[in-house]
Amino acid sequence: MAELKLPRHVAMIMDGNGRWAKKRFLPRTAGHKAGVDAFVEMTDACNELGIEYLTVYAFSTENWNRSQEEVSALMELMVKGIAKYEPEMQKRNIKLKILGDLSRFEDKYRDPILDVQQRLSKNTGMVVSICLSYGGRQEIVYAVNKLLKEGRSEITADDIGENLYSAGMPDPDLIIRTSGEYRTSNFLLWQSAYSEYYFADVFWPDFNREELNKALEAYSKRERRYGR
Ligand code: FPP
Repeated sequence: MAELKLPRHVAMIMDGNGRWAKKRFLPRTAGHKAGVDAFVEMTDACNELGIEYLTVYAFSTENWNRSQEEVSALMELMVKGIAKYEPEMQKRNIKLKILGDLSRFEDKYRDPILDVQQRLSKNTGMVVSICLSYGGRQEIVYAVNKLLKEGRSEITADDIGENLYSAGMPDPDLIIRTSGEYRTSNFLLWQSAYSEYYFADVFWPDFNREELNKALEAYSKRERRYGR
């Protein structure tokens, strides 16, 4: 891997938990459980490779339309997963950021996640961002509304970038989507203007180090032109 040109910021659309479970005649929540394990594995792997930023799409604004049962199960799994992984993140000097509209979350899910974010906030290593109740359009509207509240009548592209949830982070160099779907699904719309995309055929719970290496090798061969 040493000669690979590594992205600074990798983002991942973790898709296919449900189909992974269905293939095994398991409930969808079993897919989400395996998805949490894959998230931990990928965070460790990116950390070991020296990737500076990892951003994952864990729950979209549209995901609120799933059954109450699936939403609660997924929340429980994420809260437990983050809690269990906290000591390891601490050891690895990982900083955790939650991006999205957390106002829709029940306190019992929001508070423990924000507590972990707070406890890891002084860390100076890799930044792991988890997008929760996140939508790219909604994030841009959020940024513009913040600027309007400051009384601005004219804004620049930089103003928008500096007021997104991701303010202060570089844009993603590489966005990986699993499960063979070729869509952006409202993920990092503003930040992905010049990102490279990589689509993996495997479902998210099967996305492992070997699959990540394939994505990084493909990225390494791309020539980024930024419109030039
Ligand atoms: C999409 O697959 C996946 C989700 C809606 C959930 C993603 C969340 C995780 C993988 C957990 C991450 C864990 C932490 C701690 C951040 P899907 O259910 O839509 O699959 P399908 O398209 O096959 O039905």
